Amino acid sequence: MPDTVAEPPVIGILGAGKVGTVLGRLFLAAGYPVLIAGSGDPSRIALTIEVLVPGAVATSADDVARRADIVILALPLGKYRSVPRDLLEGTLVIDAMNYWWEVDGIRDDLARVDVSSSELVQRFLNGSRVVKAFSHMGYHDLDEGPQPAGAPGRRAMAIAGDDDDALAEVARLVDAVGFDPVIAGTLHESVSLQPGSELFGANFPRADIEAALERFPATERGVLIGAARSDQS
Ligand SMILES: NC(=O)c1ccc[n+]([C@@H]2O[C@H](COP(=O)([O-])OP(=O)(O)OC[C@H]3O[C@@H](n4cnc5c(N)ncnc54)[C@H](OP(=O)(O)O)[C@@H]3O)[C@@H](O)[C@H]2O)c1
Repeated sequence: MPDTVAEPPVIGILGAGKVGTVLGRLFLAAGYPVLIAGSGDPSRIALTIEVLVPGAVATSADDVARRADIVILALPLGKYRSVPRDLLEGTLVIDAMNYWWEVDGIRDDLARVDVSSSELVQRFLNGSRVVKAFSHMGYHDLDEGPQPAGAPGRRAMAIAGDDDDALAEVARLVDAVGFDPVIAGTLHESVSLQPGSELFGANFPRADIEAALERFPATERGVLIGAARSDQS
């Protein structure tokens, strides 16, 4: 019998902006089919996708959620409740979003320290498995950073999640697109990657990412979050 080669999973991206288009290119280059959507009619992003992510399919958010095996959220965090939750049930969802007040406005609900922003996303998408990834690196670094496994100085990507299988799958994807995956803990612990932390914006090799994760609890931000959380327990 001939060997069957497993088809790569279809990657869906919600958000056709700076990060969504870069991630689309990275996944296409790594051999994954890519579907991508903005907030509206696909015709609004068709030309952008043709020029910036040639080979990807511009479609609607509902279609991405229906057809993709893995969906990346690359939209403003303040809009996370606009994603098609019911259609994402059962899907592995990668949360690349951050609270950025200049875009999202001042939102106390997103600036909480008792929970991470990815926990809020997971609570909303309660039928999906959420893993935080591709969130701490700026889009230019993401675009220019991919290197083959084992390359000296290869950049690393911290990822966090509550489901071990989902984390392992996302770690494989991170490696496939050109970065060393580093497990940063649970979604609750993913505050260490959020704005205000040393790792936010980090474009480091694995050892430096690991060292920054280890330092986090003793940093000003880590102490503040640790104190706020222990007050509640
Ligand atoms: N910029 C970075 O370097 C960077 C790095 C890592 C992570 N991030 C995070 O990634 C997210 C996206 O950042 P960005 O800089 O790429 O923003 P951006 O350039 O403003 O793009 C945002 C995209 O999200 C789309 N969108 C809004 N609501 C949507 C919905 N319900 N379904 C599908 N698409 C929707 C927008 O479409 P419309 O134009 O149609 O509204 C737009 O295409 C943010 O959470 C950000 O914090 C950014």
